[in-house]
Amino acid sequence: MAFTTLVALVALAASVRAAPAAGAVCPDGTRVGNAACCKFIPLAQDLQKTVFQNDCGEDTHEAVRLIFHDAVSISQKLGPSAGGGADGSMLLFPTVEPNFPANNGIDDSVNNLIPFLTSHPDVGAGDLVQFAGAVALSNCPGAPRLEFLAGRANAVAPAIIGLIPEPQDNVTSILERFADAGNFSPFEVVSLLASHSIARADKVDETLDAAPFDSTPFDFDTQVFLEVLLKGTGFPGLDNNTGEVMSPLPVGSGSDTGELRLQSDFVLARDPRTACFWQGFVNKQEFMANSFKNAMKKLAILGNKREDLIDCSDVVPPTVNTAPKTASFPATKSAADLELTCNEAFPSLTTDPGAQETLIPHCSNGGQSCPAVQFDGPA
Ligand code: HEM
Ligand SMILES: *[C@@H]1O[C@H](CO)[C@@H](O)[C@H](O)[C@H]1NC(C)=O
Ligand SMILES: *[C@@H]1O[C@H](CO)[C@@H](O)[C@H](O)[C@H]1NC(C)=O
Repeated sequence: MAFTTLVALVALAASVRAAPAAGAVCPDGTRVGNAACCKFIPLAQDLQKTVFQNDCGEDTHEAVRLIFHDAVSISQKLGPSAGGGADGSMLLFPTVEPNFPANNGIDDSVNNLIPFLTSHPDVGAGDLVQFAGAVALSNCPGAPRLEFLAGRANAVAPAIIGLIPEPQDNVTSILERFADAGNFSPFEVVSLLASHSIARADKVDETLDAAPFDSTPFDFDTQVFLEVLLKGTGFPGLDNNTGEVMSPLPVGSGSDTGELRLQSDFVLARDPRTACFWQGFVNKQEFMANSFKNAMKKLAILGNKREDLIDCSDVVPPTVNTAPKTASFPATKSAADLELTCNEAFPSLTTDPGAQETLIPHCSNGGQSCPAVQFDGPA
């Protein structure tokens, strides 16, 4: 009896020790920690080739937004029937959630990803959304290489309306929503908003196409944290949109649209609960990228248990190694334009040269006409 137990224990110990070293070599020769991760390698290649084109452009930005809108649709207060979090419900019920007002514009990313459910049938919808976002982000200079855990169960129902924060929401309701969704702290909420460094709005002002939130929408840099702190001077389009306030760089030209500022970013940058976190990211590239990565670890698995998932971070492509821009005041702006409510030291920054207000290029190559894909789909 005692001997049998000992043998069993020795065998168990051996298998436990052996597991981490095991790993696997995928068909393309890549060594990974777990064979279950191999299927994501061709998926990453397909996504780059057909959707993102290795560019931190429009389709990339939209895939990063989708990470958030799929995952945050879960509520501890309302229970599991309200939504399953990072479960791919956006892709599986494309005529429900994408039609909610807070998801306006998300149909582009949903339609772009739906074909991959069929072309990569061994990848679940929740994994597809989060993995696509991580691959997308790898195209953006300055972005962290995200963690990716695989094995999310598919959604069984769409989420209810009302779980996505909107730009007209006040700070209390934004912080409450994030706390209810996944116990995010105010610091983590601000960290997640680093995403607005690579963001442009199509729907806040329906008369504008791709109105950027900062002057460097193709870099995952800290510029958005600086520019949201500058005094607003005007609107890039209409002056009466819900959830929009004046921006410091409203001037546009042709398809180079002026900067658009969300009211939510504006209030989070000035509220006593979040202002010091916001200001604290200005010109702190690594700190910002790491904080975003850490908060994303929680967001990406909402509705799932970490221990049920397989770590496939090794199949997330490394981020492009172009350096992001160092923070600086856009031409004509200076420290005199700052609206600071946080009492901590502010970094000393230079001003970009030029006598005119900065024009923000429409494309990552500096031009006005750039390729974008738009697959037709049900959303
Ligand atoms: C307070 C919370 C948030 C609010 C109110 C908010 C609101 C918005 C709005 C209104 C847009 C413009 C959509 C359009 O008109 O096309 C937008 C864009 C975007 N958001 Fe957020 N957002 C929030 C948090 C987040 C988070 C946590 C992420 C990701 C982790 C994210 C990622 C993005 C991205 C990447 C875009 C750009 C999409 C594109 O360029 O096409 N947002 N957001
Ligand atoms: C914030 O918004 C919520 C929801 O609209 C509202 O009930 C609440 O009174 C607002 N709080 C403040 C401080 O304005
Ligand atoms: C905003 O102004 C435009 C043009 O003046 C008008 O057509 C539109 O109805 C207004 N929208 C709102 C929400 O008031």
